[in-house]
Amino acid sequence: MARHHHIIRTALAIAGAASLVALAACSSAPPAEPGASGEPAAGGGETITVGFSQVGAESGWRAANTKSIQDTLTTENGFELSFSDAQQKQENQISAIRNYIAQGVDVIAFSPVVETGWDAVLQEAKSAGIPVVLTDRAVDTTVEDAYVSFIGSDFILEGEMAGEWAAEQYDGEGYKVVELQGTTGSAPAIDRKEGFAAAIDGTDLEIIDSQTGDFTRDGGKKVMEGFLTAHDDIDLVFAHNDDMGLGAIEAIEAAGKVPGEDIKIITIDAVKDGMQALADGKINYIVECNPLLGPDLADVIKKVVAGEEVEERIVVKDEAFDQEAAKAALPDRQY
Ligand code: AHR
Repeated sequence: MARHHHIIRTALAIAGAASLVALAACSSAPPAEPGASGEPAAGGGETITVGFSQVGAESGWRAANTKSIQDTLTTENGFELSFSDAQQKQENQISAIRNYIAQGVDVIAFSPVVETGWDAVLQEAKSAGIPVVLTDRAVDTTVEDAYVSFIGSDFILEGEMAGEWAAEQYDGEGYKVVELQGTTGSAPAIDRKEGFAAAIDGTDLEIIDSQTGDFTRDGGKKVMEGFLTAHDDIDLVFAHNDDMGLGAIEAIEAAGKVPGEDIKIITIDAVKDGMQALADGKINYIVECNPLLGPDLADVIKKVVAGEEVEERIVVKDEAFDQEAAKAALPDRQY
């Protein structure tokens, strides 16, 4: 089930108003034995034990995603959650998943820091009969039926939306673009780069430099400082997330330039800090990446444990904001 999200784009575009798009392909797992702990849950069922391995705490988006998962997979909702933070290291995620297998949890869920390198541990979970649910990021694996469902945004589409807006604004003006990439080898970095490049292909926008800032504010600032030293003709920054864009703002201001005016900025996420910078005129456009995956994860896990069919791919629909839209949306923004 490698990189299903590439195929999803058209379906998402067609789906229109629905906030979540569940694709037709379904898979079912044999019912797991609910409640290794045997504790009764509220509502009469038994507690479902879940091991969740999170990427890290690298961004505002990740903080909102963690909160959504921890607020949803609660004892009151019938879950016993073991949560671990991998600090952006794949080896930490693999050892966390192995611990969950050893504990015999009912379901393992994780957001993979990078796309490849999961075959052995996914095979181990499969051999132990523990269903795996992916959230947020995809894996590229040769293990058949390695996971029962993948819940998250279409990152290629996000990159395309950013690139299409840039192409509409600046085509014909010979714009020089620098790109702040997310974590090397991660699905959002690979896909957002691909989507943006495709959308500006054939226009007068040119990517003159592209490096990773690892999805962190500090990383974005440091890489942007290097870009500003190496190039005196940067018109536009495409940052793969808000945090790197916010770091770039600091670097641009320190260099005596005005972010949003001298150098335009496009980012992805639309978390509160990013939206505030957009409303303040320091960012020019943001494509949303919705982090509130907890409710869908809870729903999928309950179905898997009950032996019901679940959607193999659940695509989260994202919006986009210009400066005026950000001002209107900020008062009610949840994250
Ligand atoms: O995988 C989602 C990405 O990871 C978010 O866009 C970014 O902020 C986070 O670190």
